[in-house]
Amino acid sequence: MTTSPLLPAGGRRIAFVGKGGSGKTTTIAHVLAHLAKQGVPAVGMDADKPGDEEDGSLYVWASAVDIGAPVYPAPALPRIADEAQRLTPPHGLGLLDTGAWERREGSPHLAVLSAVDLVVLCLPPTRMEMERAGSVLGALEHLRSVGAHAPRLVVLQTLVNASARSAGTTREALEGAGFTVLSTVVPRNDAHDGYAQAFGRAPRLVPGSPMDLLTAELLAVVAG
Ligand SMILES: Nc1ncnc2c1ncn2[C@@H]1O[C@H](COP(=O)(O)OP(=O)(O)OP(=O)(O)O)[C@@H](O)[C@H]1O
Ligand SMILES: [Mg+2]
Repeated sequence: MTTSPLLPAGGRRIAFVGKGGSGKTTTIAHVLAHLAKQGVPAVGMDADKPGDEEDGSLYVWASAVDIGAPVYPAPALPRIADEAQRLTPPHGLGLLDTGAWERREGSPHLAVLSAVDLVVLCLPPTRMEMERAGSVLGALEHLRSVGAHAPRLVVLQTLVNASARSAGTTREALEGAGFTVLSTVVPRNDAHDGYAQAFGRAPRLVPGSPMDLLTAELLAVVAG
């Protein structure tokens, strides 16, 4: 068993953002399950607009099966930061799931960004997807310019096709542009017991798997 770095008493909060279908919810569910296995106290929070009863949310997943950590539905927008802080266990992690990235008036994303210590941008490595990174950066820049709390940003490559070279090319381009790209990538896995079929089931805990390594890497990033 690995020893996890100790998080501060107030814990840390991480938001996962990215376009629709970029693997945010699947990734968070697995990371929560791996955190529980490692004995790191954690909670999940749906930060999508309250009332959105779309299938496929983290809250719906956790209502169907025990994923190892409690998951809370989205609070009203103005309360996201307070609620995230209140629900995060001492020395633990709060993981905030969000809907498809949008940056318009009334979208929850600016509120979510100001509620967390770290933003994980889930990015399938294609040229088109990279342009979205600019929009997230713009939002962080906006928070800074109005004097609000602006979290760190790291990029997580998701839905990575094992046979394609695009993950390496994308990493080089992003790092060249000054982004931090996590060394773990989440591969596309369409197998019958793979990530594509995971929704609504207990996440599989495979030692040394991408989700296991990602959990350790995220802990190291927020502890440091
Ligand atoms: N690594 C993966 N390999 C294969 N399929 C995946 C993987 N990650 C997610 N999927 C599938 O892709 C679809 C979208 O995944 P998911 O719901 O996690 O994305 P999301 O970013 O949370 O989407 P939304 O923005 O709609 O909330 C789902 O059908 C899921 O099962
Ligand atoms: Mg989702």
